[in-house]
Amino acid sequence: MYRTVFPALKLLDPEVAHHLGMAVLKTAQAPFVRDILGAVTRPHRSLHTQAMGLSFPTPFGIAAGFDKNAEVVTALSALGFGHVEVGTVTPRPQPGNPRPRLFRLPSDRALVNRMGFNNDGIDEVAKRLSLIRRLTPGLIIGVNIGKNRDTDPSDAAHDYIAAARHVAAVADYLVVNVSSPNTPGLRALQDPRELTPILNGVLAEARGVPVLVKISPDSPDEEIVDVSRLARELGLAGVVATNTTVSRDGLSSSRPEITHAGDGGLSGAPLATRSRDVLALVRDTLGEGPVVISVGGVETGADVHERLQAGATLVQAYTSFVYRGPFLAHHVNKELVAARS
Ligand code: FNR
Repeated sequence: MYRTVFPALKLLDPEVAHHLGMAVLKTAQAPFVRDILGAVTRPHRSLHTQAMGLSFPTPFGIAAGFDKNAEVVTALSALGFGHVEVGTVTPRPQPGNPRPRLFRLPSDRALVNRMGFNNDGIDEVAKRLSLIRRLTPGLIIGVNIGKNRDTDPSDAAHDYIAAARHVAAVADYLVVNVSSPNTPGLRALQDPRELTPILNGVLAEARGVPVLVKISPDSPDEEIVDVSRLARELGLAGVVATNTTVSRDGLSSSRPEITHAGDGGLSGAPLATRSRDVLALVRDTLGEGPVVISVGGVETGADVHERLQAGATLVQAYTSFVYRGPFLAHHVNKELVAARS
């Protein structure tokens, strides 16, 4: 059934297909389905990874943006992802940008999105997470936080701090997202003068929960070095590298397809080279201790292996889940075991 239904999803509007996929994943959260899935997809024990004081069943997890509102965390874990980064969540709920706002570029195995942090708000997500914690303890869940679109950039720190305060008790780690291209002015917060009060405020609210900062692949190398140095100086747990790119260089898709997709962040295969370069730069700047979560264009277990060799502690993907299908993590975990042997 999956072989007929999954290709059919690709004929639908991508956001409609996403909602259908979410509906299927919600049904997979019924305890008996989850248990069967979990037994089939359980990562090989050689993939166990210790980081940030947490024990990950595999270094491979699902990136922020897929489960923005923590609705399908248990299903994603049962499918073999070693952690789920929910969000981006903002203090107040917001609808995001007008649709259509998500596009496929199949010849590039890429997506373009300008979702604009559509989410249910931090209170709702914190409630959901506390229920998940009670019913299915042991899952590793990061929470990616951001600012509301209508919050003045000069008040941005308040939004990050408020979000951190509401969710720290139910998060395994927090990610300060200052790198989405779809919230006007957000990326300017990567300037260390803007970023310092945000990170200090979030660290104070996190009460020992590890805090990371997520950076843009479009920042010049000097800014990536500056943000990484700041992360180290302030005592962050690490860096997530990278978010989507606004670049459209080197794509195989036709000009009309690229124009039709319009503005927004590009993710998937074309991002891989820059994401790998940024990983190397961040690891070089941070030294050995802090965590680097590498994300951008990861599609296979061999890709995960390569990122780990290049200094990543953990690796995430989103776009390849859309192109390779619901058993992505299961395949990647098996490929990773093979790549290591
Ligand atoms: C994203 N991504 C993202 N990142 C983030 O920090 N907060 C978010 O809300 C979102 N939302 C989002 C929506 C959609 C539709 C996509 C495709 C991506 C970025 C994502 O987490 C990741 O950094 C990039 O997509 C690069 O990884 P992949 O997709 O190439 O594996």
